[in-house]
Amino acid sequence: MARESWTSRIGFILAAVGSAVGLGNIWRFPWMTAENGGSAFLVLYLGIVLAVGVPGLVAEFVIGRRAGKSPVGALESLSGSKHWGKVGLITVLAGLVLLSFYSVVGGWILRYFFASATGAYFDAPGAYFGSISYGAGAAGFHVLFLAITAGIVAGGIRGGIERATTVMMPIVILMLGALAVWAGGLSGAGEAYDFFLTFDAAYVQANALDILLSAAGQALFTLSVGAGTMITYASYIGEDRSLPADGSIIALLNTGVGVLAGFVVLPLLFSTPNVDPATSGPGALFVGVATAFGELPGGRLLALGFFAVVSLAALSSSISMLEIPVAYLVDEHGFERKTATAGLAAFVLVTGTVSAFSSEVFGILAGPVVDILLTTGLFAFVVFAAWVLGGDAVEEFTLGTRFSSGLGDAWRLLIGVVLPPFLLFTLFNGILGYLGWQAPVEYVAVAAIFVGLAVVTSVQRVASTERADNAA
Ligand code: PHE
Repeated sequence: MARESWTSRIGFILAAVGSAVGLGNIWRFPWMTAENGGSAFLVLYLGIVLAVGVPGLVAEFVIGRRAGKSPVGALESLSGSKHWGKVGLITVLAGLVLLSFYSVVGGWILRYFFASATGAYFDAPGAYFGSISYGAGAAGFHVLFLAITAGIVAGGIRGGIERATTVMMPIVILMLGALAVWAGGLSGAGEAYDFFLTFDAAYVQANALDILLSAAGQALFTLSVGAGTMITYASYIGEDRSLPADGSIIALLNTGVGVLAGFVVLPLLFSTPNVDPATSGPGALFVGVATAFGELPGGRLLALGFFAVVSLAALSSSISMLEIPVAYLVDEHGFERKTATAGLAAFVLVTGTVSAFSSEVFGILAGPVVDILLTTGLFAFVVFAAWVLGGDAVEEFTLGTRFSSGLGDAWRLLIGVVLPPFLLFTLFNGILGYLGWQAPVEYVAVAAIFVGLAVVTSVQRVASTERADNAA
């Protein structure tokens, strides 16, 4: 059976943008921005998207298109080593972990959508969010969200994913744009813009490490890198596309939507009495925005529109999470797409139900576990692209572009030498922070550089020995 592919360039871009744009932009980005000093966070986040996110995204595209396979098969066949296949399994795990909490948040969003029709949460937004966020109701809506996700994935690349995202993404962008214009008229808009856009150097200096870690985690999460999603999606595209160009467009659109969401959510938060944007946490979107909608004329209709948009954005991301393990079972174990989807959905039905009942499990999966998995995943991908694929990666990078190999070489140097220690630095700090251990940053930095270079040199040595063996 021939492997499926996207029908058009725009289909691929929209599907990848659909994966990138999701709750990460609309729920997590405004919350992170509010918690980390507004403009300070924005600037670091944009820098990391540019310097780490985009090159990392392109590395995943290079691996995916080169192999024409999902991550496990791609790493295994391109390297000729079963060990790399095992490294690839981390993406299957990442997909399942991601979906196990994302589907719960997706369930909250669906619930808010339905509750908007009656305005059920308008009177006591805080209490309402508290009463629905965990428990049987949350589990029920998680199952509903998961069922819709599975339905689309079962339909396959063209019939399901491409068709759904081609319709969803333009609607999402248009509606967010309209909401942002409307939010500009709110009483707190000026203060919100100031917080969001005026750079505060003193704040950055005082909180540099925290902002850096949050910004790095957010950059990976929002671009969907490190999970293998983008390897999987790129495995369905042709050689006539420019990977660096597509990657840049995708990152630009994704970042644009995140900033747009900031222009919607922050003015709402700043216009709401009794809400402190900096401490409103993961409930920021729900509580703050709900309070605002409750007080506005025509609030129910606006809320319906808003949560409809967020549901679409969440779905186009959740399908990309489920696609990772589905593509693995289809490509590597010969499963029927429908059977694989049903089996994996049944698995997430259980794990998601656990996190729908336990805020602790939810918090651990959504926080440290996902950060660790994505950072480790991206670390493996960039090392693989730069040192196992090596010159082939540069060739794949330039394929379908008008670039000479110079830009490709610079990119390879960046992902092969600069990114590995940087990613390890955030990984080590993240793990230490999670364990509650203290270590001077300089030591962590030295350890990251040392381990990073050790991994890079040994991977490079093994790869060149194998190349020599194959040539002999
Ligand atoms: N980028 C998605 C979002 O912002 C989340 C995601 C992460 C999707 C990793 C797939 C893989 O909501």
